[in-house]
This record gives sequence, C-alpha cells and structure tokens, in this order.
Amino acid sequence: MLKRGHKSNPRNGVQNCRVSVLVMSFTLMLMLVFVYLLLKTDGEENYTKTNNDSEKLSLDHELPNPKQQLNGFDSLVQFHPTKEFRNGTDLIWQVPESSPKGVLFVAHGCYGRAINFWDRTPECPDCIGLPEERLLVLNALARGFAVITISSARTCWTYGKELLVVKDIIEWWISKRKLEKLPLVALGASSGGYFVSVLASTMKFNSIVIMIAEGMFEEMDVKRDYPPTLFVHMPKDFGRKQKIDEYVEILKDVGIDVGVVECIEFPLSANTLSDRIPGLDQNLSGKLFEFLKGKGFIDKDGYMTRDGRAIKWKEVLEEKNTVSLDKHLVPHIQEELNLAFAYHEMTSVHSDQIFKWFESHIS
Ligand SMILES: *[C@@H]1O[C@H](CO)[C@@H](O)[C@H](O)[C@H]1NC(C)=O
Ligand SMILES: *[C@@H]1O[C@H](CO)[C@@H](O)[C@H](O)[C@H]1NC(C)=O
Ligand SMILES: *[C@@H]1O[C@H](CO)[C@@H](O)[C@H](O)[C@H]1NC(C)=O
Repeated sequence: MLKRGHKSNPRNGVQNCRVSVLVMSFTLMLMLVFVYLLLKTDGEENYTKTNNDSEKLSLDHELPNPKQQLNGFDSLVQFHPTKEFRNGTDLIWQVPESSPKGVLFVAHGCYGRAINFWDRTPECPDCIGLPEERLLVLNALARGFAVITISSARTCWTYGKELLVVKDIIEWWISKRKLEKLPLVALGASSGGYFVSVLASTMKFNSIVIMIAEGMFEEMDVKRDYPPTLFVHMPKDFGRKQKIDEYVEILKDVGIDVGVVECIEFPLSANTLSDRIPGLDQNLSGKLFEFLKGKGFIDKDGYMTRDGRAIKWKEVLEEKNTVSLDKHLVPHIQEELNLAFAYHEMTSVHSDQIFKWFESHIS
C-alpha cells in the first residue's frame, strides 16, 4: 500500500550530505504537511472526474484475472523468500528454481517495506504479502526473474548515501548468488520510482519501470546511456501526468527508449477482493462490496466514488458492526480500493506490459 508519494530535495550529493540534513528535514516537514493536505482533499475539490463511459467499458476487459495473468504458472511458483540483514536494512529475495533470465530490483513507496512483497511463509513469518506487490513478484518469478526487495532506511527513500547503500547491497547479493551474467532491471513505485530514476544513473540497468512517479529528470543530467524507461502511471493524477508527458519528451530528445502505460479506474464486483486477496473469501468479498455500495462508496456501476484513503470505510464498518473483518486484511483491502479508484497506488494489473518491457530490452 502506498501513501501519497512525495519526494525530498534531490540536490544533496554524497559530499554535502551532512550539510543538507537540516534543510532536508525542513523540506521533509513541509512535504509532509503538503501530503497531509493532499490526502485530506483527496477525491474531493482537487479532483474532477475525467473518465467517460466508453473508457469505462473498455476497462471491463482490461482488468485481468490475476490467475490468468500468471498464465497458469502460479501453481509452479511458490513463495520461498530468504530474508537477510545488511547495511542496516533488510533485503528479501528469491531466485527461480530453473535457470533465471534476469534480476529485478523492486523499490517500494513511502511507508512500504520489503515484507510487503512476500506472502507469510515459514521463511518469512512477518511478511505481509500486499495484493499488488505479491502479484508483481509472482509474475516476475513465473517469468524467470530473480527478485530482490530492500527496505528503505526511513519512511521514504532518500537520495544521498542510501543510493550507495542500495547499490552495495544489490551488487553484493548478485555476486554472492553468482548472477553477474544476468541482465539487471528495476521497478520503483512512487518514492521508489524517484529513487530508481536516480539509482539508474549510478548503476547499470538494462531497463527500468517508474510507477506512479515522474522521476527526478529535472534534477539530473540524463546521458544517452540512461536505460530504457517505462512510465506506468495513473492519469487521474493529472499533475503527475503532465510532468510525465514533459519528461517523456526530454528523454526521447536525448535518444532514450521511453514507453508509457496508463492505468485507469475499473469497476469492482462482488468477487474482486476475493480474486485478488488471498485469505479473503467470496462470502466476505460479497458482503464488503454490498456494504461499500450501500454507503455510496461504490456507485451503481461498481466504481469507487472517491479514493480509498479518503473514505472512512473501516470506521463506518466498525460502527455498523455488520461485517466482521480480520484487521490484518485492512491494508490489503485498502490497496485494492485505491487501485480501483486509480489515483495513486502500486499496481500489478499491467504486469504483461511491464515484463514485456523488461524482456524486450534484455539483450
Ligand atoms: C471518451 O473516451 C473515448 C476513449 O478514450 C474518447 O475517444 C472520447 O473522445 C471520449 N469522449 C469524451 C466526451 O470525452
Ligand atoms: C555495506 O556493508 C558492507 C559490509 O559490511 C561494507 O563493506 C560497505 O561499505 C557498506 N556500504 C555502505 C554504503 O555503507
Ligand atoms: C457467509 O457467511 C455466513 C456467516 O458465516 C453464513 O451464514 C453464510 O451461509 C455464508 N454464505 C455463503 C454463500 O457461504
């Protein structure tokens, strides 16, 4: 699950890291206030509905069943992650059993952790397996990518020493697992997207995916050898969409291969939550759907009327006390509601396009 993304001041190089800590903290505080205001008005005044009926119709077909998305590989792919601790943070990884064809580094958004990407297993008892994160990892493993996830040191990623730390961890892990010969790709969402966009100028990636973030291209001097970049974003977040349009042109001008995938809202059905969240059965899924509909959080066509973060669905649910809910499932449900609204959330819906991007830029 992602909180509204933001970025800190990127201009702190490694050299003047200490000097800018104070400035950074202050900037961060301002940003947090801004983010808070943004969250508060989420789905209200700030946002005018832009999608029309024909777009909605086409989307009905666009939300693939996660099982179909895995092309039947899901029975072959199982979570057996390894959790390690290095350079003051944790990394969780898994290498596919039969000859891997690439290495994928995934960077979470603000408030994210490596444990969000992996299901709870004996190897990782505190793993959470958020629905979109876990589907991305399953898709990667099914397609033969070794996956490494790392937790940021703070709430969001920072762009000073942390770049070196993550580079160190990835390189150490790759050499320990003897995966040096494989292509290396990266995907970052929100804060992780900004982070990957900068990391890609210090580390050699074959290609990258920047999700629900525009990247730091204004602050960087992008060279011709910058990796092919795919933006996966939610155009309902119009400010960000405008930035991305701008950066796509900047990157193209430098001669970099750029792609764009837009994610738009989709209607929920009685089974959406049980289809996408392990451990949430159809019974509960149907009841939640009816409850949200009854409260006007979902319209007659199944669309979220506001962002999942903006509605107080948990509080209302508790008050009414008609549907009992394991509180561990709250972040999972929250994520799917945000995703259906399609303003700012991690998404695995376009895994096909994401992995085609990686696969077509491997050689
Ligand atoms: C509705 O969406 C379709 C498909 O994206 C587009 O071609 C059409 O111009 C839109 N209509 C309006 C009124 O915005
Ligand atoms: C990460 O840890 C290794 C091993 O302890 C150390 O050699 C390396 O300098 C550390 N990297 C950073 C950036 O702190
Ligand atoms: C749903 O759960 C309720 C309460 O546990 C039960 O009475 C009902 O039969 C269930 N319905 C279905 C379709 O499984």
